[in-house]
Order: sequence, then C-alpha cells, then structure tokens
Amino acid sequence: MRLLAIPLICAVVAACSTIGGSSASDSASLSRTQILPGCCARCHGAEGRGDGPMATAMTPKPRDFTDRAWQASVSDEHLATVIREGGAAVGLSPLMLPHAGCVDNDQALAAMVRRVRACAE
Ligand code: HEC
Repeated sequence: MRLLAIPLICAVVAACSTIGGSSASDSASLSRTQILPGCCARCHGAEGRGDGPMATAMTPKPRDFTDRAWQASVSDEHLATVIREGGAAVGLSPLMLPHAGCVDNDQALAAMVRRVRACAE
C-alpha cells in the first residue's frame, strides 16, 4: 500500500505545480478578451474596464484598469493589499470586498496583480 501511495502523492504534487505554473503565466499569454477571472469580472469587466454587470449600480464605480497613468501611480503592494484585504483597508470603497478566497496563496495573489497590470498592456 505504502509503495503505491508514494507515486500517487508525487503525481498529485506534480499536477498541482503544473496548475500553479499556468496560473502564474506571464501577461503575454493571457487572452485579451478575458484577462480577469469571473470573481473580478462581474464588477471590473473581463478586460478590467470597470464595466462588469454588477458595476452599473455602484458608486464609486470600479476604475478603468486600462488607464496607464493610474497603473503608473500605484504599486504592486497597493494592488495586492486591495485584492486581499478589500478597498476599506486602503481607504477605498468597501464595495471592493476582500478576495482572500479567490486568491488563497501568495502565488495566486501575485498572478492576480499581473492580471490587473495586463489590462493596460
Ligand atoms: C462586488 C464588486 C467587486 C468585485 C467582485 C471585485 N471588485 Fe475590485 N473594486 C470594486 C469597486 C467598486 C472598486 C472601487 C473602489 C473605490 O474606488 O473606492 C474596486 C477597486 C479595486 C482595486 C483598486 C483600484 C484603485 O483605485 O486603486 C483593485 C486593484 C481591484 N478592485 C481589484 C479587484 C480584483 C483583482 C478582483 C477579483 C479578485 C476584484 N477587484 C473584485 C468592486 C469589485
């Protein structure tokens, strides 16, 4: 039994690292039409333009992530904090909820920050 379990664990670990690797893929390989995943797109829009279906009734609205001047004005740390801890953590709207569930580890968080950056590339 033990001998069987070892290759199985190896296979699972290998599969996980493959998934981790692809979610951390660089922005160049991201589709232009679907940069942000569903957990963000419903408010931010698939391309990050702030035009997701849930954004229409919001004040303030999610900003346009394709705005390069804004991108240049914020650090990766700011983006990571907002994504993980929510808008209220940095004085923005609490309608931007904490998304720790969507980005449940540092690698996923870093990949999400790259997706936000990719909206303006
Ligand atoms: C329920 C709607 C909603 C969802 C879902 C949502 N956001 Fe937001 N987000 C907002 C709103 C509204 C703001 C604007 C807050 C403000 O300007 O005060 C915002 C702001 C932000 C900002 C800060 C922009 C700035 O002005 O500095 C970032 C970064 C961000 N969201 C990323 C994400 C990411 C990544 C996801 C998915 C993991 C996500 N959001 C999911 C509504 C949402």
